Amino acid sequence: MTFFRRQALAADLARKILEVSPTSAASSGLFLAAPRRTGKSTFLREDLRPALEQEGALVVYADLWEDRRADPGDTIVSAVRQELGRHEGVITRLARAAGMDKVELGGVSFSLDRVGLGEGISLSIALAALSDEAKQPIALVIDEAQHAIVSEKGNDALFALKAARDELNSSRHHGLRIVATGSNRDKLAMLRSGRDQAFMGAPLISFPSLGMDYVQWFCDRVNLGARLDPVAVHALFQRAAFRPELLGAAADTLRFEFGLAPEDVAPRFAQAIEEQIVEYDREQLRVVHSLTPPQAAVLRVMAARGATFAPFEGATLEAYNAVLKATLAEEDAKIDVSGAQQALSALQDKALVWRAARGVYALEETGLATLMAEAGMLDVVPK
Ligand SMILES: Nc1ncnc2c1ncn2[C@@H]1O[C@H](COP(=O)(O)OP(=O)(O)O)[C@@H](O)[C@H]1O
Ligand SMILES: [Mg+2]
Repeated sequence: MTFFRRQALAADLARKILEVSPTSAASSGLFLAAPRRTGKSTFLREDLRPALEQEGALVVYADLWEDRRADPGDTIVSAVRQELGRHEGVITRLARAAGMDKVELGGVSFSLDRVGLGEGISLSIALAALSDEAKQPIALVIDEAQHAIVSEKGNDALFALKAARDELNSSRHHGLRIVATGSNRDKLAMLRSGRDQAFMGAPLISFPSLGMDYVQWFCDRVNLGARLDPVAVHALFQRAAFRPELLGAAADTLRFEFGLAPEDVAPRFAQAIEEQIVEYDREQLRVVHSLTPPQAAVLRVMAARGATFAPFEGATLEAYNAVLKATLAEEDAKIDVSGAQQALSALQDKALVWRAARGVYALEETGLATLMAEAGMLDVVPK
């Protein structure tokens, strides 16, 4: 698999992340937000990680979505443990700190299981030992960080990281920078403010989508029997909400259309992109159409209300029931608090809805609200 490399962007970000500036709050971490499927994870893995290493950082990477069923707190802890395991000297340090004089390597020895949240060796101590041993600043990269606040353990991990950051950024150590990404600004914002303020004040920036240079790269390689005009393809890429996969999928369709005349390649490519967009949207709405009436009613109200959605307030319950009445022939169907609770948890299981541990709900994919609105599905929701 080849990717378009964004080395200049990565180098620039890496320097800014690691810079010790007396005036900026950057040492409290950095948040990068961009919609789904626009290349965040690819950038972190292929470009940012090597750039941070190039700048002298030790990179620890945790993807909170790799295994969606794993508790995000555990994922963060195990990413840290894995890195500790690569440094024998750190294990010796930690074993001493835990009161063991001798570390028997290979035999019964200090176990990394002791590193974690709560009992034993805190993330702060572990990361400080790691940084001291390596004599490098640590860059902890957390992909899909908004997932951290769906569980208590995830929240605990964030607070532990805040403590670790304060400790490592003191003059005794080499520094800890936390870089977090996510597809939803509102959710990421919750990590920086309010009660989940583990990263209060950390800058949140929009991660730039792939641009003309990527489109140029794509056009140079796509090889469909006729040259595609990058300017035209860029306009299509924009229509496709900057998702590289849609360009790739459109190209693949054309590749298997035999006997396509060279002059037909460009218009056919444009058409294939439109088809991909329609198909993608239809796929998302298909899930919505398979919901039970109460689930659909709750989802519609949530989509219509956006950030002001208050799931169990009287007015919201009334709205659910108004929608239910409008969409269902049965007169006596009714959604009460526990019905709403059930519907929300079913929507969560279907990965349509996201819930923070403190009970705030939001759509998993904000684009879904737009799609539902365009399909007229929100018209029945009372204002
Ligand atoms: N720089 C790139 N060059 C080519 N393809 C890319 C690039 N970045 C992302 N893609 C493709 O786009 C898709 C989505 O990328 P991903 O990094 O998973 O997005 P995100 O993490 O924002 O959801 C992947 O299939 C990936 O191969
Ligand atoms: Mg990703």
